[in-house]
Parts: sequence; C-alpha cells; structure tokens
Amino acid sequence: MRRIPRILGSIRRDVRRFVWLLLLRMAQQAMSIVRTSPILPPDQRPAWGTILPIPASRVSTRKPIIIGHRGAAGLAPENTLEGLQAAVDLAIDGLEFDVQRSKDGVLVVFHDEDLARVTNGTGKVWDKTLAELKALDAAILHEDYHDVRIPTLREAFELLRTCEQLLMIEVKEPWRYPGVEEQLVALIREFDLVERSQVRSFYHDALHAIHRLAPEIAVSELWLDRVPEDDEVIYKTVNCHHILYTAENIARLHRRGVQATAWTVNELDDARRLIVMGIDELTTNYPDRLLTLFA
Ligand code: G3P
Ligand code: CA
Repeated sequence: MRRIPRILGSIRRDVRRFVWLLLLRMAQQAMSIVRTSPILPPDQRPAWGTILPIPASRVSTRKPIIIGHRGAAGLAPENTLEGLQAAVDLAIDGLEFDVQRSKDGVLVVFHDEDLARVTNGTGKVWDKTLAELKALDAAILHEDYHDVRIPTLREAFELLRTCEQLLMIEVKEPWRYPGVEEQLVALIREFDLVERSQVRSFYHDALHAIHRLAPEIAVSELWLDRVPEDDEVIYKTVNCHHILYTAENIARLHRRGVQATAWTVNELDDARRLIVMGIDELTTNYPDRLLTLFA
C-alpha cells in the first residue's frame, strides 16, 4: 500500500523535471530572439575574474552556502525591502536580487519586464518613472503584506549595508540599460559593498564591462540552457538551473577552480541531490526550508 504514494512521488518528480527542461528550452529559444552575448573566442576573453571572497563577517561555514532568491520570494514579496529583510532575519549566507532601471534613470530592484505579475500595475518597468513605480503595490502575491513598494537599489543598499550577508546582484537585460554597469559599480563602491557583492547576469557582455571597470568585484556567469564546457567558462563562478547539474559537470568545474552554484532549489530532495554532488551554493525561495538540512 505504501508503495503507491512513493511511485506517485517519483512520477511527479519526473514530470516536474520534464516541464522544467521544456521551459528551459523555450527560454533558450526566446533568448536567441532577444539579444544575448556571443561566446567570446579564447583570444578575446578577459583574464579570470575575482571569486567572491569569504568576508571575515561571514555568517556561516555551511557548504553549500544558502542564498535567498529575490530576497526570500516564497516567504515575502520578491525583490522588496520586506523580502530582503526577511532573508536577513533568517541569518542565511546571502541574498540574490534583480536590478533594472526606471524611465528616468534610477536603478530599481525588480525581476520581470512586465509589472503585472507582482504589482497592481501594468506595462514595462523601463517605461515608468520612479514616481510611477513607487505608486504601485508590489505585494499582490503575498496576502500577509500590503502597500509594499518597489525599492531603488540605493534603498536596498541602505538596508543591507549593515548586515553581513553576501549580495548576489543580477543585472537583468543590461542591453536595455546603456551604462547600467557604471551605475552599478559606482553604487557598490559608494556603499563600500565591494567585498561581499557578486554581480550576475545571463548577458556576459555586462560581466565583461563590470570586470573591466572593477576587477575587484566578483562576477558570476548565468547559463540558461547548459552547464558550460571548460572552454566556455571565463569567470570563477557559474550559476545554472539546478536541474542541469550532474556529479560529473560539477566535478569538471571544480577541477578548473570554478564554483558551481544553482537556482532555484526549493525542494529538499533536490537540495540533498545537489549537496551529495558537491554544489557550492543553493539559491532558494524558501531558505527556512533548506536550513532544516543543516540544523
Ligand atoms: O541566480 C540566478 C537566478 O536568479 C536566475 O533566475 O529568473 O530568478 O532571475 P531569475
Ligand atoms: Ca535573479
């Protein structure tokens, strides 16, 4: 009798895996329609980048480290000050959040192109002034929260400047925001966050720009459709969807001194699988859940 739910569980996992791979494939096709960075030939690649240092204030010696995704998106409105604070309060190792820019040039913390999924507004984030973005409620997915605002990156840094967590800052669609790399580097330096910031992007041109401007800031290559081969990796941290990792490709990255980091790991079974394979970081919407593995 007890075998039936176990079989159903494994079918559910297979279906989930299949759906994810399908979605990744669709995203890959979409990415080839929008602009993305070409793979640089070896002779045009920058020197190897900086790996995220372990600050003296590091809150944990856990391996893998646990990073809250978009703050802690499963627990509080994503990419908001409330969400970032929720992640800080859990004393996890770091927080990931996304950066875009308003119509009037202010860096804001927001994931989607479109405002409709997580706010009571419509339209594109880059088509709105900061005042227009600030008029929106970004808490519509969380009934326990009301009147939550889209934060500027400056506001996020003001909140995070005194905490000890690592900051994983993803630059979304930098080709839409010329000069975003300079703006971001200036703000990281202004808040003295160089030591514990890592800039991430699917658009590796932006990482090259960041690395040229500030080689002391760690960067992480996001790969959508695959774990990169040895001759494709440039920087020292690779960030892929967790379903793409195997013990072999993680070991291969480690042999080159590259950290293997995974998003978005919400299920304990997935986390356990990745931990056994040697993953270096788990980014999750539910840091509270993953912390139970280390209790
Ligand atoms: O850490 C990378 C991960 O955040 C990428 O996925 O769509 O949540 O930005 P997304
Ligand atoms: Ca992100």
